[in-house]
Amino acid sequence: MRIQGHLYGLLATAFLSLRAAQAEYVDPPVLDGCPGYNATDVEIAGPKLTATLVLAGPACNVFGNDTKTMKMEAIYETGTRIHLKIFDPTTNRYEVPESVIPRPKPDPTVRTSSAEIQFNFTNAPFTFTISRTRTKEVLFSTTSHPLIFEPQYLRVKTTLPPNANIYGLGEHSEPFRLDPASTTRTLWSRNAFGVSSGPNLYGNHPVYFEHRTTGTHGVFLLNSNGMDVKLRNNETADGATTLEYNVIGGILDFYFLAGSEDDPAEVARQYAEVVGTPAEVPYWSFGLHQCRFGSQNYIEVANVISNYSAANIPLETMWVDIDYMYKRRVFTNDQDYFPTSRMREIVDYLHDHKQKFVLFTDPAVGYLPNEGYGSYDRGTALDIWLKAPDGSPSLGLVWTGVSVFPDWFHPEIGQYWTNEFMNFFSPQTGFDIDGIGIDMNEPASFCNFPCDDAVAQAALLGLPPARTSSPPDPNAPILGHSSQNKRKRVQPGDDVLNPPYSIDNADVVAISNHTAATNAVHANGLVEYDTHNLYGTMMSTTTQDAMLARRPGQRTLVITRSTFAGAGRKVGKWLGDNLSTWEQYRLSIAGMLSMATVYQVPMVGSDVCGFGERNTTELLCARWAMLGAFNPFMRNHNTDQAISQEFYQWPTVAQAARNILSIRYRLLDYLYTAFHTASLDGTPVLHPLWFKYPKDPTTFPIDVQFFFGDSILVSPVTDENSTSVLIYLPKDRFYDFATLAPVDGQGANVTLSNVDFTTIPLHIMGGAILPLRSSGAMTTAELREIDFQIIVAPGTDGLAAGRLYLDDGVSVTPKDATYTKFAYEERKFNATGTFGYKTGVKITKMLFLAVENAPSDVTVHEQGSDHKGVRFAHNATMQVLEVDVDISLTHEFSVEFQS
Ligand SMILES: *[C@@H]1O[C@H](CO)[C@@H](O)[C@H](O)[C@H]1NC(C)=O
Ligand SMILES: *[C@@H]1O[C@H](CO)[C@@H](O)[C@H](O)[C@H]1NC(C)=O
Ligand SMILES: *[C@@H]1O[C@H](CO)[C@@H](O)[C@H](O)[C@H]1NC(C)=O
Ligand SMILES: *[C@@H]1O[C@H](CO)[C@@H](O)[C@H](O)[C@H]1NC(C)=O
Ligand SMILES: *[C@@H]1O[C@H](CO)[C@@H](O)[C@H](O)[C@H]1NC(C)=O
Ligand SMILES: *[C@@H]1O[C@H](CO)[C@@H](O)[C@H](O)[C@H]1NC(C)=O
Ligand SMILES: *[C@@H]1O[C@H](CO)[C@@H](O)[C@H](O)[C@H]1NC(C)=O
Ligand SMILES: *[C@@H]1O[C@H](CO)[C@@H](O)[C@H](O)[C@H]1NC(C)=O
Repeated sequence: MRIQGHLYGLLATAFLSLRAAQAEYVDPPVLDGCPGYNATDVEIAGPKLTATLVLAGPACNVFGNDTKTMKMEAIYETGTRIHLKIFDPTTNRYEVPESVIPRPKPDPTVRTSSAEIQFNFTNAPFTFTISRTRTKEVLFSTTSHPLIFEPQYLRVKTTLPPNANIYGLGEHSEPFRLDPASTTRTLWSRNAFGVSSGPNLYGNHPVYFEHRTTGTHGVFLLNSNGMDVKLRNNETADGATTLEYNVIGGILDFYFLAGSEDDPAEVARQYAEVVGTPAEVPYWSFGLHQCRFGSQNYIEVANVISNYSAANIPLETMWVDIDYMYKRRVFTNDQDYFPTSRMREIVDYLHDHKQKFVLFTDPAVGYLPNEGYGSYDRGTALDIWLKAPDGSPSLGLVWTGVSVFPDWFHPEIGQYWTNEFMNFFSPQTGFDIDGIGIDMNEPASFCNFPCDDAVAQAALLGLPPARTSSPPDPNAPILGHSSQNKRKRVQPGDDVLNPPYSIDNADVVAISNHTAATNAVHANGLVEYDTHNLYGTMMSTTTQDAMLARRPGQRTLVITRSTFAGAGRKVGKWLGDNLSTWEQYRLSIAGMLSMATVYQVPMVGSDVCGFGERNTTELLCARWAMLGAFNPFMRNHNTDQAISQEFYQWPTVAQAARNILSIRYRLLDYLYTAFHTASLDGTPVLHPLWFKYPKDPTTFPIDVQFFFGDSILVSPVTDENSTSVLIYLPKDRFYDFATLAPVDGQGANVTLSNVDFTTIPLHIMGGAILPLRSSGAMTTAELREIDFQIIVAPGTDGLAAGRLYLDDGVSVTPKDATYTKFAYEERKFNATGTFGYKTGVKITKMLFLAVENAPSDVTVHEQGSDHKGVRFAHNATMQVLEVDVDISLTHEFSVEFQS
């Protein structure tokens, strides 16, 4: 969310004289003329190589004095991972604390010679390469680009093939495949209303995957300081791509991931070994979520719930944005507009109807000494606010006015936050939420830097904003963390407000502008300059802990705006405050793919129908509702500045929503199974086309089509008013999801026409076995009582495989689970695995695709007996064999047919 733009103007001009340069431009040859380092004292001990790096010649001191001596450590941590650290041993420079990113344990049995990638280096000057052992292909090379290491400037640069395929380095709203010719990716958390293409956004994921037809590998720089990563192709005669890191602090802490020569998903799994596999979320969280900023009162909230039900559109979870707060103070509600008793009635109603309730909260707490504001007073008593260098609370400006920021490194912060959650979100006396949305955690501030007179700035902006409606009838009829870290820090002499190298921080420019001041200090001595990019992730982790304390043993849903690498281990994320435009509808797919496929944050979605700036339209909302059904996290969300956009507002959108939610819900166990697999090994929940067709270069830039799970190809209509779409079908066997008829992709573009406004083109990739519920339902609780159908969609080789994972849907560690593997070959289907979870439902139908002729007989084999003469029907036109079965999901079985 943002505050209205024109108000900024009032404040902006006074501060323009301050240093506010755009990213420093230094001619590449000048940087390449720096002396670099010579490696000495090289020692090799098993998988570990260490050396001392000594400045090789006269210092070039570009953004500060060159560090004279450094330490280098390269460790083969696993057969597919090399960890390279370059640091200054004489100072305790800041490193990302283990409490935020626990480091992966090296495999003690690793053998350097058999590792899939190799680290090689030259001594003088020191340069290094990472190469693929088998093919000798160089994946990363600093040759001819000397390392620069200064207190507030680190530079590493690699040469890559021309027109390199680079994905990641977000959060961003750029194409999924970054333009190798001219991309600057700035990493610095920012309240980025409008999520425009190019600049830094809310979250920071300093990892990229590079794909070549010869393989896919990954590079992760574990560093939370501000940085610009530049991709260029105009610096060498042969058009080679260069990738340059310009980092304003911390150390060089690289993880090189071998990936694989033929399966791109492998690099995703290897990245998950470093940052953690994604959290499992509750089954219900895959239902439809509805939220709007700008609800006037509790009656409006209740009406939305009733209207969804009346329109027969399944609404799983009702959200209320910050509107509920009293003067926009966190952990309060406005008794005139959102009275506790009436809100509790709404929550009870939802729970009685097997629906869920979520509220938004923000990190910043109103700075309100002596006003009896409990959340402020309790925090002050524990002394848990981020501090200014003089020891006073570091102030910011958010919705409620002048505010303080919780210090997520403070030893008592978990206790404080959990206590606030236990009180305000108490099931007995407060708001019994099922999940939580967290906003403004970059952290955002509306204060122009320097925020010396926050009170005056708050007054100018009119914060908190007054309510514009009168209070509702109070009796209206409704409804029927963290461990200590000894490391510092900023060195004496560092300028943490105006570092010599200015990263390309969009709009707000100065790194302390519109956020917590970068000289603010944490309880453990760390300085916001270093930890800024961690703030959002740390808030969400602490929130996850608070939610688990409310309902021990139960999974919860935490959806955050700001993330850092590894956030997916605990929480989900929405793509921030987008706009209701066709461009952003298209770009949302790339944003979602980056999060789900590269950054390991698969519980992700964009604000369906668009959040801000202009009113959505019926057709955009209809198309987005259908695309949104293939966002793992599906939420319609809009701003107070726009018309209402609940799906029932227009007939076309309501129909599109009913159609697509039925399909999404039928596929919910398929999605749930994909999440379970992801939680075990990091296999992505969504896949770009090139993950499945890594040798087909046409797929490399495609980012408006994608795979939902392993095998549902989603190809949304992308243009306004259009009922046709040009899609790419790789050379492979597909099936039309609607008719189940085979479609043979030719490795060519195909135009799909007559795609009406309530339909989205879907194909099943050959080789898949899909478990589907027989129908949709109004809630996921109801859905769990509906029988299954199994679709068997063989590939060109006649084989198919799939899985189904079932458990109670909520427990962190479920007592019982069913994990069934399906396999099909030569007219025989087999289900094997474990069957611990008692679903109470059955498989009632098997649909075998691409069966040209009716069989003579179908046999079901289960529990030692054969049932012959099973009823079936064959559709010769669509080549579908439909078999009626009655199989409980309690044991292995097989189905066979004779032709
Ligand atoms: C680094 O190595 C180069 C090449 O051998 C040499 O000319 C230079 O003197 C060395 N620098 C230092 C500081 O040893
Ligand atoms: C750089 O080093 C010189 C002399 O070694 C010193 O005078 C100067 O203060 C240093 N500059 C910074 C920014 O530390
Ligand atoms: C890299 O070093 C390894 C030994 O560590 C050696 O076997 C290999 O040939 C070297 N590769 C290159 C490209 O120099
Ligand atoms: C190289 O490309 C970048 C990005 O497009 C541009 O800013 C820069 O001016 C170009 N440099 C030269 C020497 O053309
Ligand atoms: C702070 O951000 C505002 C809004 O973008 C801008 O107008 C102002 O110039 C910025 N101030 C500084 C010091 O960068
Ligand atoms: C959105 O629609 C409302 C109601 O029709 C209208 O008052 C408002 O001006 C529209 N906003 C924009 C940005 O077009
Ligand atoms: C889509 O149709 C609407 C209504 O007819 C029209 O106003 C709009 O300009 C059309 N947009 C495009 C891109 O053709
Ligand atoms: C398919 O169409 C896109 C967009 O027009 C084009 O960029 C691409 O080259 C086409 N692919 C093939 C295989 O023709």
